[in-house]
Amino acid sequence: MPVRLIVDTDTAGDDVNSLLIALLHPNIQLEAVTISVGNVGFEQQIENALYTIEMAGRSGEVPVYPGCAVPLVNEWVAADYVHGRDGMGDSFFPKAKQRPEDKHAVDALIERINAAPGELTILAQAPLTNIAAAVIRDPSIARKVKTLYIMGGTYFAPGNITPAAEYNFYVDPEAARIVFKAGFRIRLVDWGVCVRNGVLTDEDIEDIRRLDTELARFYLAVNRVVRSFNETVGIHGITHPDSIVAAMIADPSIATGWQPCHVDIETRGELTRGASVINPVAYAGVEQRAVDNVNAEVCLGVDTARFKALLLDILSRR
Ligand code: BDR
Ligand code: CA
Repeated sequence: MPVRLIVDTDTAGDDVNSLLIALLHPNIQLEAVTISVGNVGFEQQIENALYTIEMAGRSGEVPVYPGCAVPLVNEWVAADYVHGRDGMGDSFFPKAKQRPEDKHAVDALIERINAAPGELTILAQAPLTNIAAAVIRDPSIARKVKTLYIMGGTYFAPGNITPAAEYNFYVDPEAARIVFKAGFRIRLVDWGVCVRNGVLTDEDIEDIRRLDTELARFYLAVNRVVRSFNETVGIHGITHPDSIVAAMIADPSIATGWQPCHVDIETRGELTRGASVINPVAYAGVEQRAVDNVNAEVCLGVDTARFKALLLDILSRR
């Protein structure tokens, strides 16, 4: 049985790769896409999701619900310098035929989770504003989601927007804190594991170019700005923070280990706002809270070769 999935996304760069996996992998049944504040302008992110659905040949088959366009408390912080002004590598694609739904993403999340308790998996690959707003409105949904996969935070690694914080949690730390306290079954994939295991090198990118499919060309266009941005911060290749998570939902063997932890988010630190404070059970002797209050499993590693093979398979489908 395929995984019944909703993807909550700030569609730009690797969010697109992740959506392609969710749209085209036979082990995933993508039921809805919800749009959160994040990488680039909100309306642009909606268009990027719709265009990605069209590129996957799935136009009109997966609804796109616009959600919260600003964080709960923070001012919005853009990442267009990472992904291009349009979030698509400055490609400025035409508008897709499919249009967004009128219903708000938060309403769609609450309705869909309540209609299928224990059935739906969520991949949250953006600031957690929509998920937090949904669980504030209906706290019962936390126990009804099968697994909430979250891309965000840092574990054994510096952040990518401040030394302490990763972008998704930095943009809306209050939302992240609410989500980690809400009682979801959470699997967290942090920025550190992405940098260690989720980068495709120049050689890998050449293999993608050689596929010479419409989707391979789309991938190269969407990811060209992030590729040159990464060079400026010493990362050689294209980073896949969101798509490694979609890949491990499709093929669980892509995650090489999970550690039960207590995760909390710093909302007030002078230098550390948005930092993920992760306490593994292994440190329970130092702070008992870890065993008493495990609220997430944190990903310890990704099988890069398997991830690459899965992504190439998806990009060769059209
Ligand atoms: C996260 O931030 C965004 O720019 C990416 O889409 C990803 O979800 C990585 O920190
Ligand atoms: Ca994202």
